[in-house]
Amino acid sequence: MKLEAYQAMSDEELRHRIKKAKTDKNAIILAHNYQRLEVQKIADFLGDSLGLSRQAAKTEADVVVFCGVDFMAESAKILAPGKTILLPEIQATCPMAQMVTPEALAEAKAHNPGKTVVAYVNTTAGVKALTDICCTSANAVEIVKSLGDREILFVPDRNLGGYVKKETGANLTPWDGYCYVHNFLTVQDVERNRAAHPDAVFLIHPEAPADVIELADFVFSTSGMVNYVSSIAGEKDKQRGVIIGTEVGLVNQLQDRFPDIGIWPLSEFAVCGTMKLTTLAKVAWSIETGNYVVTLPEDVIENARQSLEKMLESGR
Ligand code: 13P
Ligand code: SF4
Repeated sequence: MKLEAYQAMSDEELRHRIKKAKTDKNAIILAHNYQRLEVQKIADFLGDSLGLSRQAAKTEADVVVFCGVDFMAESAKILAPGKTILLPEIQATCPMAQMVTPEALAEAKAHNPGKTVVAYVNTTAGVKALTDICCTSANAVEIVKSLGDREILFVPDRNLGGYVKKETGANLTPWDGYCYVHNFLTVQDVERNRAAHPDAVFLIHPEAPADVIELADFVFSTSGMVNYVSSIAGEKDKQRGVIIGTEVGLVNQLQDRFPDIGIWPLSEFAVCGTMKLTTLAKVAWSIETGNYVVTLPEDVIENARQSLEKMLESGR
């Protein structure tokens, strides 16, 4: 059946078809916290990049439908090469991951032979294959600390790299990439929200610029933010409310889960366009028709796996 036919179906029918196909094909659905709320709600596992990698590595399903962007689905393929990994939307790419190519990284390594390459998971498989150890926003500080006084080349996010350098004092050179969604969060956004919600706790994602991070109460990955809000749900502190400095998909999730807590986006314009391309219709089409299958050359899988596994084995 063509995608158009799925797009004409009701959400209820789509959910029913997805549920049935999951059983028929022994499939699971992994979704990132920035997905549309209706997609988040059909996930077997919803989480941040680190949590999703861990799930991909340990799943016993035959098929993994990855609702996120391409580098996440590639990581799933690298960690579970024997499984069929499906990406419902072929155009779901991460612009930041494209900011460092394997060629550019190979050249930088040639000019800096002694440096250890730490790559944010928001990178292509080809870049991971040239990397010593990966990290996510949840464990970047700990991973870099574990490298002691080694000289580090950190790709591709200059904001996360700068934050990690400040937190660890490491001898770290950040690449010049950035996430367009977080990089455009501003001090003015913080001032506006602080004025509107003076008691609120302000959480920021480390992909934001340094001057915005500086003003936050806590710096968290997306699941770190979920854990924080969950932890105050039964507490007096929840009266203060929370300002969320990340993509709005996470804000939507928290507002839905915690209707009695004030939860405000730092900016309602913090929308990752490619994260929003995955719809219920595309998930139903993907799981029923087996599209799009994520494939990677075997040597890339082999070489990229060591940097991802090193991160997972570090337990951080
Ligand atoms: P985390 O969910 O790992 O915090 O990552 C944010 C992100 O930008 C993923 O693309
Ligand atoms: Fe990439 Fe930023 Fe979108 Fe995450 S939010 S997928 S880093 S562009």
